[in-house]
Amino acid sequence: MIKNWQERFSENIKDYEGYPIGKTLKYLANPEIISLAGGLPSPNVFQKSEMRQISERILREDIEKIMQYSAIPGEQVLFDSIINFLERDDIIVKKENILITTSGQHGLDLAGRLFLNPNDTVILDRPTFAGAIVSFSMERPEFIGVDIENDGSNVEGFRQKILELKKQNKKPKFIYVVPDFQNPTGITMSYEKRIQLLDLSYEFKIPIIEDSPYRDLRYYGNPIPSIFSLDQKLHEGGGNVIGLYTFSKIFCPGLRVGFNIGPENVIKKMTNIKEGNILNTPKYNQDLCSAFLSEMDLETHFDNCKNYYREKLEVFLKTMEKYFPKETGVSWTTSEGGLFLWVSVPEHIDTNELFFEAIKYKVAFVPGEQFYGENPAKNHMRINFSYASKKQLEEAIKRLADCVKPLL
Ligand SMILES: Cc1ncc(COP(=O)(O)O)c(C=O)c1O
Repeated sequence: MIKNWQERFSENIKDYEGYPIGKTLKYLANPEIISLAGGLPSPNVFQKSEMRQISERILREDIEKIMQYSAIPGEQVLFDSIINFLERDDIIVKKENILITTSGQHGLDLAGRLFLNPNDTVILDRPTFAGAIVSFSMERPEFIGVDIENDGSNVEGFRQKILELKKQNKKPKFIYVVPDFQNPTGITMSYEKRIQLLDLSYEFKIPIIEDSPYRDLRYYGNPIPSIFSLDQKLHEGGGNVIGLYTFSKIFCPGLRVGFNIGPENVIKKMTNIKEGNILNTPKYNQDLCSAFLSEMDLETHFDNCKNYYREKLEVFLKTMEKYFPKETGVSWTTSEGGLFLWVSVPEHIDTNELFFEAIKYKVAFVPGEQFYGENPAKNHMRINFSYASKKQLEEAIKRLADCVKPLL
């Protein structure tokens, strides 16, 4: 009998521990805990009756195809719907530029597998999406982070890091950003910085991975063009940006469908990897996502989501001001959209420890450490404001204040 399995695990995986957020979930089983930890959209905005009707129809009309294997790149109806969906955001793509993924996390996995060898470097924000760090970590790259600013990535900081790497004969494999309502901070990258980032990408020939799950969840202000669309507009059709999208936050996460867009040869290689890792994304789920884009009155749905989440964001910000006046030294980001805000407590408080204290007060958040590729800061937390009710949000912040104030 084999006793020591650990010594047989691959070099890439043997020290790999998966998703740190996942490990905190077991503490949230108590229903009295108000969790601001998950990244869950609210089921109150799910299009449940449309979903029932369309599910019934596609099962009636297409059950044999739904129960069968289907095309690995994706379903034609979904390609067509995505092409129209992106066109309204000034992105022009053909079928060859799209790969249907089994959610955003799968899209990230494909990008990591495609580009990274052990010790390759990835440039990213500090903090950035923990799921991207977890996904790319399977290839054991080195993460080079630069503190994010109120108007998005510190592009000049990225340039300095690239120049430092150049001196060591190294070149980052890609730059990973979440420019719209970033997870975890809620920060949006300004137009000027998007242009600067593209310039950097062209100057040093480094691809940009633009992860965009929240782009359509804007509650205030005007949309800023995506980096992908700016690349197409300003650089003769583009070619330096790979876009990652998911239906999880704008429709529902349960179906696990997303899509990657990019240059034809990148998409072709990602498709080859998909052949090796999951084959096809379920046709049924894709058909529902296609119906979401083309039949379920998208703009009314987005308006509902925006009104619903905007109110929660307002409640969150108002309640934070009430319980955490300036002299507490607690600060937080504001956001024009998305699902998250970033709360900072004085430096002597470690939010990994605070998490367990907060559980005693029956409130939960995600400790900020998980959102750093290297050298984590420990005095931040990610707060989700989309899932808890407005009343729960108010109560959760009161509990958080009761828990934090004795430590100040
Ligand atoms: C920035 C970002 N990328 C990707 C994902 C993964 O999305 P999915 O749930 O579709 O796997 C998330 C989910 O929270 C996210 O915030």
